[in-house]
Amino acid sequence: MKILEKSSIIPFNRPWQSTREEELVVQSLASGKLCGDGPFTRTAREMLEKLTGAPAALLTTSCTSALELAALLLEVGPGDEVILPSFTFVSTANPFCLRGATPVFVDINPQTMNMDPTQVASLVTDRTRVVVPVHYAGLGCDLDPILALASARGFHVVEDAAQAVGSTRNGKVLGTEGTFGTYSFHDTKNITCGEGGALLINDPAFVERALVLREKGTNRSQFLRGMVDKYTWVDAGSSFLPSDLLAALLVAQLEDLELITSHRRRIWNSYHDELADLHVQGKIFLPQKSLFDESNGHMFWLRCADLDERTRLIAFLKGRDITAPFHYVPLHLSPLGRRYGGREGQLPHTEALADRLVRLPLWAGLSQDEAFRITNSVKEFYLG
Ligand SMILES: Cc1ncc(COP(=O)(O)O)c(C=O)c1O
Repeated sequence: MKILEKSSIIPFNRPWQSTREEELVVQSLASGKLCGDGPFTRTAREMLEKLTGAPAALLTTSCTSALELAALLLEVGPGDEVILPSFTFVSTANPFCLRGATPVFVDINPQTMNMDPTQVASLVTDRTRVVVPVHYAGLGCDLDPILALASARGFHVVEDAAQAVGSTRNGKVLGTEGTFGTYSFHDTKNITCGEGGALLINDPAFVERALVLREKGTNRSQFLRGMVDKYTWVDAGSSFLPSDLLAALLVAQLEDLELITSHRRRIWNSYHDELADLHVQGKIFLPQKSLFDESNGHMFWLRCADLDERTRLIAFLKGRDITAPFHYVPLHLSPLGRRYGGREGQLPHTEALADRLVRLPLWAGLSQDEAFRITNSVKEFYLG
């Protein structure tokens, strides 16, 4: 086997490797049952349900597919409107657009980069079926006004908690307050099985149908539970089950979730402490530390003065072997977003801030020395 040279380049992300993955994957291989809904899928589901308190946490092949399952369960369709931030990944929008709904983009709160809940009310119409708050960087979006509006106006809330496993908001687990919440286990996330996700079902009335829709529209899940003696086609569904082999990986990662979260939070706090002076001096903008008390340390972002400064900072860090990428290009100004009516000037904060944001490398296993190397380089860029 070729051993890769250890490089001094600090990547943006490095997936966590637990000591148990190999053992559990070998167990899964030995079981001879690699398809979905096997023993490791059941264990991962139980662990997620214990962690979140959600009535059901169904593994899916990605957060994207968990959102697709949510859209199918809510029977979103043509004529429906779905309110979501423009400052997000395409997967927040695609599952609803695929069902024929129209995305309606809402601006962000500059402090948090999350959907601004005060702007949602003016966008709600009789056609609003779903609002999709994103918990950006694992920081809880302020859901209270959105949930109140949802009860008053009769729409659903689906929390895109792709980045938020392990985070809470006022003690409540992110992803458990809307009708559904969705997690990602992509390898850029705090815990990973390469590609994977979960749908948190907070209203038990949706559980049985979800089990059918994710299993190609069959009642195989009832068959596996001994409730029917053969399974058949009962609904129009799709295939959202990950292999049990991937679930084995996920179980190993879930076992280490607390360790991973505490490590990431330590690095996050160190970045904040080291860069706070630059924020006080007005050279950069940092997120407010106290807001992140309940976050999972998923991401550390800072904002530069403008796009030109950001481009130079990223290049400067690259010159010091530090990989620090920017993030989302606003959806409302993308080619498809424009076809849905997106235009310049529509979302002033999103447009002003997306071009200024930089993310610093952050993963469990990043050493304190590497963290200092990163913050010292940022300081050198600004202070010389
Ligand atoms: C906010 C958000 N939603 C959804 C996704 C999609 O997750 P997945 O890759 O698991 O489909 C991502 C991925 O990064 C994301 O950041």
